[in-house]
Amino acid sequence: MTSLPPFANEPILELRRASVRSGLQDALARVDGRLALQVPVMIGDDERVAPELVSTDPGNPDRVVAHTARATVAEVDTAVQTARRSLADWGSRPASERAAALVAAAAWMRERRIELAALEVRECAKPWPEADADVCEAIDFLEYYARGAIELDAGAELLQVPGERNQMRYVPRGVAAVIAPWNFPIAIVCGMTAAAVVTGNGVVVKPAEQSPGCALQVVQALRAGGVPPEALSLLPGEGDVGAALVRHPDVQTIAFTGSLPVGLEIIRVAAEIMPGQRHLKQVVAELGGKNCVIVDADADLDEAVPAIVFSAFTYAGQKCSAAARVLVHEAIAELLIDRVAGAVSVLDVGQADRLATEVPPVIERDAQERVGRYAEIAAREGQIAARVQRVPDGGWFCPPTVAVDLPRGSAVLEEEIFGPLLAIERVRDVEQACEIVDGLPFALTGGLFARDPQTVRYVTARTPVGNLYVNRGITGAMVGRQPFGGNRLSGNGTKAGGPDYLRHFVEPRAVTENTMRHGLVV
Ligand SMILES: NC(=O)c1ccc[n+]([C@@H]2O[C@H](COP(=O)([O-])OP(=O)(O)OC[C@H]3O[C@@H](n4cnc5c(N)ncnc54)[C@H](O)[C@@H]3O)[C@@H](O)[C@H]2O)c1
Repeated sequence: MTSLPPFANEPILELRRASVRSGLQDALARVDGRLALQVPVMIGDDERVAPELVSTDPGNPDRVVAHTARATVAEVDTAVQTARRSLADWGSRPASERAAALVAAAAWMRERRIELAALEVRECAKPWPEADADVCEAIDFLEYYARGAIELDAGAELLQVPGERNQMRYVPRGVAAVIAPWNFPIAIVCGMTAAAVVTGNGVVVKPAEQSPGCALQVVQALRAGGVPPEALSLLPGEGDVGAALVRHPDVQTIAFTGSLPVGLEIIRVAAEIMPGQRHLKQVVAELGGKNCVIVDADADLDEAVPAIVFSAFTYAGQKCSAAARVLVHEAIAELLIDRVAGAVSVLDVGQADRLATEVPPVIERDAQERVGRYAEIAAREGQIAARVQRVPDGGWFCPPTVAVDLPRGSAVLEEEIFGPLLAIERVRDVEQACEIVDGLPFALTGGLFARDPQTVRYVTARTPVGNLYVNRGITGAMVGRQPFGGNRLSGNGTKAGGPDYLRHFVEPRAVTENTMRHGLVV
């Protein structure tokens, strides 16, 4: 493979252009014409199709997007053994060859990018701009990790002294299980899978039960790009399939993105040594958040208000990075609450396929009920400053809501809600805001609106979050520009889309050779 040009982010679509917009409708019609998709269990060259699970359109639950087979425990074992067998070939190929497969997969996705986005619109109710950005992010992961794998393969520079030669190389850890969420239905499953594959592991993917159709596209892209079927299997199913993978004694690495309770369970089970297991399992855990935006008295509210509303309500607040709490200086609190409430009360809640939609439905009935429960607590314990009055019938819609005056310790302030509900709290000053942030167990993203550089330095030094955004929205991390991931109970400090991420999938081996003359054996 000739050397790759420097990495650059995939440009998003220019949705304001009429020609681009009409392309979206054509792609959606093509995708609709192919529904319902069949998502098989794919192990090596074998495929088993069965309508055992369904994924539906959150905006119109009568529309079936995919019929999915549900992997059995026996299939989990077969997939892991198949991945193990792939290591001798795939794991020993030159890094440049594996990187070429990722670059080819990126080209496969680029050719189909609008249809992939259309599938996200249907399966996960991702509005067009978000769905397009998700596909771009998937392409970015492929291109970025392709380059990273070649760099990593060069090994580390070690100190050399006369009489010895020291080398360190990174080799694949073995079998990697990828367990994915639904909220970035192509990008996240693609990022974790691409990283595991390009470093030479045999990979088994367990997609979220809500988005198997999207995950199938990732496996197809990588296989079309040249990843051998043995090295990449797909095991659709529910949590039990993920749990069986985690327990399996031949799985070395578990790349998990999802909720805190499931992540903690995975870390606990992975720490047990199963009969026949001869290694320590590595868990890459990217978990939930309770993300706070601090607004100081000197903030520019023309900048802060739209950024807060966008960060809290885009994709109905279902981004791990979404804003959940605003901690605003008491001197400007009334003004900020008034302006955010005004902006939220006119948000356009609608179907994901409408370009005007600002807030789509949430993913499923359980999510709608969960958000409703927190909204009731907010109304009981505090005040509702804004709530959109009319939302469409039929889908899993939740009215975007702003709550204020909640007591410290309220579940609305402490727990991840993962829906369109934002709490605003008054604070005495930035220092008190930092104490509140520091008191949280989560540390994923955070924001600050302030004009004084000293305040920016102070908050930067004090905040534990993995990604702090200053004077801008707090979502939309870009591969290579904002390596993404949380600390504390939000994750074990891994940074997807950053320079260190691939190291989780390899083990370092150092070799020291005595090079003093000691005769030749012929
Ligand atoms: N930190 C990040 O980068 C990041 C990114 C996206 C989403 N998230 C988090 O993900 C959550 C939303 O996603 P979700 O609802 O799909 O999360 P989830 O934890 O419910 O499910 C994630 C995956 O785990 C599987 N699973 C469930 N139980 C399991 C078990 N016992 N063992 C193994 N696997 C099991 C599910 O089937 C699914 O594939 C939110 O908490 C969000 O903050 C975090």
